[in-house]
Amino acid sequence: MPILDENQLAQRFTAEFSSPPRVSVRAPGRVNLLGEHTDYNDGFVFPAAIDREIRVLAARRQDEQVHACSVDFSQRSSFDLSNFGSDPGATWSNYLRGVVSEYRKRGFEIRGMNLLISGNVPIGAGLSSSAALEVAVAEAVRVLGEFELEKTEMALLCQAAEREFVGVQCGIMDQFISVLGQEGTALFLDCRDLSFSLVPIRFDAKIVICDSRVQRTLGASEYNKRRAACEETVRLLQPRLGEIKALRDVRIDQLEENQSRLSEHHYRAAHHVISENERVLRGVELLKTNAMAPFGDLLYQSHESLKNDYQVSCRELDLLVDLAAAQPGTLGARMTGAGFGGCTVNLVRTQEVEPFQEEVSRGYEQKTGRKPFIYMCVPSQGVTSRAL
Ligand code: GLA
Repeated sequence: MPILDENQLAQRFTAEFSSPPRVSVRAPGRVNLLGEHTDYNDGFVFPAAIDREIRVLAARRQDEQVHACSVDFSQRSSFDLSNFGSDPGATWSNYLRGVVSEYRKRGFEIRGMNLLISGNVPIGAGLSSSAALEVAVAEAVRVLGEFELEKTEMALLCQAAEREFVGVQCGIMDQFISVLGQEGTALFLDCRDLSFSLVPIRFDAKIVICDSRVQRTLGASEYNKRRAACEETVRLLQPRLGEIKALRDVRIDQLEENQSRLSEHHYRAAHHVISENERVLRGVELLKTNAMAPFGDLLYQSHESLKNDYQVSCRELDLLVDLAAAQPGTLGARMTGAGFGGCTVNLVRTQEVEPFQEEVSRGYEQKTGRKPFIYMCVPSQGVTSRAL
C-alpha cells in the first residue's frame, strides 16, 4: 500500500485545514512472534514492531473542536470537546475519540486540534492498525499539549481507549509494542507487571507476513467470548487451586488434574493459554542463543494450539501455514494476532524468501481464488515524533 511522504502529507494538511501542521508522528503496527491470547491472562508475549505505520500530522486550534481527516478513508470526522461520543459513520475516528476521552479522565486539559491521518498498516489483518492509530494520536496529543506521560502509561491509556470506545476487551500487547518496540528486536513482555526486555533478532532468516485477505468479521464478539471463557475457567479452578488470579498462575499438571471439573471448551482454552505461555518462555531463550530451527518449531506448535484448542484460526490461515510448511526454507509458521482471518507470520531462511513467496502465493490462489499479500517485515522502532 503506498504511503504519502512527509511533504505530500504536510501539503494535504495545509490544504485541508488552511494552516500548517506542527508535529509529525509515526507509530508502527506489530507482528506477534509468540504468545497469542496470553496478554489478557496476565501471561507473556513476544511481538516485534514492524515497518508499517500510521502517520499523524497535527496542530493546535484556537477553539474547542477536534477536526480529523483520514486520507485513506477520504473522510472527515469532527467533534466539540464539550460533548462527544462515538461516530458510527466514521468508525476509524472512534480510536482517536477514545484517546482524547482517556486523556481527560486522567486530568489532562485537552484543547482543540486538527489531525491528518494516513498509514500503510493493513486494516483488519491482525497487524494492529488500531493500536498504531491510538498510539500515533496519543503521541500527537501529548506533544501538542506538552504533557508528561510515561511510555507505559501511554500504552495503558491507548488500551483503555480501545476498550471503552471501541468495545474490544483487548490486552496490552499491541499498544505496548507500538510504543516501546525497538529496531532489530522483539520485545518480551510480562503482561502482569509490564516488565519487559528487548531481544535482538540476529538469525539469518526473515520474518515474512502472509495476509490471507480474509477480514476478521467475527473478531470483536469472538475475542470477548474467549476472554470471558478464560476468566470463567479461573473462577472454576479457584476452589481447588486457591490463590490464582489468572490462567498465568495455573500449571499444566494442575490443569490436567482438574480436567473433570471443566467443560471440554474451558479445558481446551486453558490448555492453549498455559502451553502458549511456556512456548514464549522457551522461545525467548532460543532467540537469545540464535537457535532458529527450534524457535521455528514453536511457531508451528503455537498454530496447532490456536487452531485446535483455542479455535481462533480459519480455513485460509490453516492453508497458508500448510503451504508454508511445505517450503524447504520455512523454519516456522503460525497465525498472528487475534485470528479469524488476517495474517500468518513465517520465519523463512533468507536465501529462500523468493521461492517461498512464489510458491505460497500460487498455492493459495489455486485453492481459494484469492491472491495473498506476502511481504517481508523488518523489526522497527516504536512511536516517534518530531516538531515541524
Ligand atoms: C488482539 C488484541 C491483543 C491480543 C491479541 C491476541 O491483537 O488486541 O491484546 O490479545 O489479539 O494475542
